Amino acid sequence: MAKNKTAFVCDACGADFTKWQGQCTECGAWNSFKEVRLASAPRGSDGLKGYAGATESRIQTLQDVSLAEVPRFSSTLGEFDRVLGGGFVPGSVVLVGGHPGAGKSTLLLQSLCKLSQSQKALYVTGEESLQQVAMRAKRLGLPMDRLQVLAETNAESIVALAQREAPGIMVVDSIQVVHLSDITSAPGSVSQVRECAAVLTRFAKQSGTVLILVGHVTKEGSLAGPKVLEHIIDCSIMLEGGHDSRFRTLRGHKNRFGAVNELGVFAMTEQGMKEVPNPSAIFLQRADEIAPGSVVMATWEATRPLLVEIQALVDNSFGNPRRVAVGMEQNRLAMLLAVLHRHGGLMLGDQDVFVNAVGGVKIMEPSADLALLFALVSSFRDIPLPRELVVFGEVGLSGEIRPVPSGQERLREAAKHGFKRAIVPAANTTKEKIPGLEVIPVKKIDEALAYI
Ligand code: TYD
Ligand code: MG
Repeated sequence: MAKNKTAFVCDACGADFTKWQGQCTECGAWNSFKEVRLASAPRGSDGLKGYAGATESRIQTLQDVSLAEVPRFSSTLGEFDRVLGGGFVPGSVVLVGGHPGAGKSTLLLQSLCKLSQSQKALYVTGEESLQQVAMRAKRLGLPMDRLQVLAETNAESIVALAQREAPGIMVVDSIQVVHLSDITSAPGSVSQVRECAAVLTRFAKQSGTVLILVGHVTKEGSLAGPKVLEHIIDCSIMLEGGHDSRFRTLRGHKNRFGAVNELGVFAMTEQGMKEVPNPSAIFLQRADEIAPGSVVMATWEATRPLLVEIQALVDNSFGNPRRVAVGMEQNRLAMLLAVLHRHGGLMLGDQDVFVNAVGGVKIMEPSADLALLFALVSSFRDIPLPRELVVFGEVGLSGEIRPVPSGQERLREAAKHGFKRAIVPAANTTKEKIPGLEVIPVKKIDEALAYI
């Protein structure tokens, strides 16, 4: 550290190098290297105090570590708390990312205005003027008497002012406009983002302030300098949702204090962001007449079930057959088509195949396999599936239907929303019966196909 005062950072992926290179060996980008000055390491143990919550340095056994509950406080929004793993942890750093217009500023303003009633809260705006922030708060009818606001983009000034006020929670909107005066590159560049985040984080860790950094997503869909921020922050949350949709999903990508991949659902309304505590209902708004190729599945989102409609369109291809998966993994689709051919005797090689998880949700778990299979066959054979049918299960390469976790909870969620029949892996059927739901167990892919 003492010798190397500068380093080279790839602007595209954030990887660190000691020497300049024309091409980044990590991500392959050309001419992306920027020289950054390394902030000198804090001297003595004082500088690092608080980084891991240590108050004194001594070695002890794991068993002796005090297990006092991490004190948390609520964000005042239940869906936000869920993604955070139960609220904010003092001294933690949370990155809230999303496309411009997703509603990051709105969501955080709502949370902070309400929080300011019970503790000191500071909103630092670098993108909008104070008037704009005030006008929005007024229009949304939020309490404005206690929230402290600051329009500033210099990281050192922000920290200096915040140190005097010692807020319990502080938002910096956004990290891409904040800069340090002794770094020459433009705000938003990897070196600025990285050094500013480090300065702000050091303040949060030392003072116990909850720091929320707002980050914009670039055109390619990644947070500017994601690699740079990844190891600094405790919690990374993305606010997602298209411009054409009212609904916004809040998803945890990294969380040192809770489950990752928790999903919170909001609706953007005239009165700002409104929580949607029962998301299954919105993803399930289906037409009166069910078309072929559509089926509902029960997916599992970290701690709760979610009912999602899966659609498939299988159509004659002219030329190169296309396989397109939206909201699901492309590779799993390719695998399922192979399994369907080999064990189901269904040849889709000359067909275009499109599949979609409705409502903009992303399904990452294999329990969508069986539902996808049903949707594919239903579309190919042009047979609509019954409206009250719900399907889930993993499909193995030898055509077996494998069980998935939390089967009982998924079935209960389906019954709650009026589904009458469920086709599930045989190992997911339990002795306990769910009133009003007929559970059909399947072991092999041909049993499932026979049903259609
Ligand atoms: P904003 O919070 O400014 O997004 P971000 O900070 O993520 O860029 O939200 C902007 C969008 O939300 C804007 O397109 C208008 C819309 N909006 C509403 O529909 N209703 C509202 O009450 C508010 C405040 C914003
Ligand atoms: Mg904003």
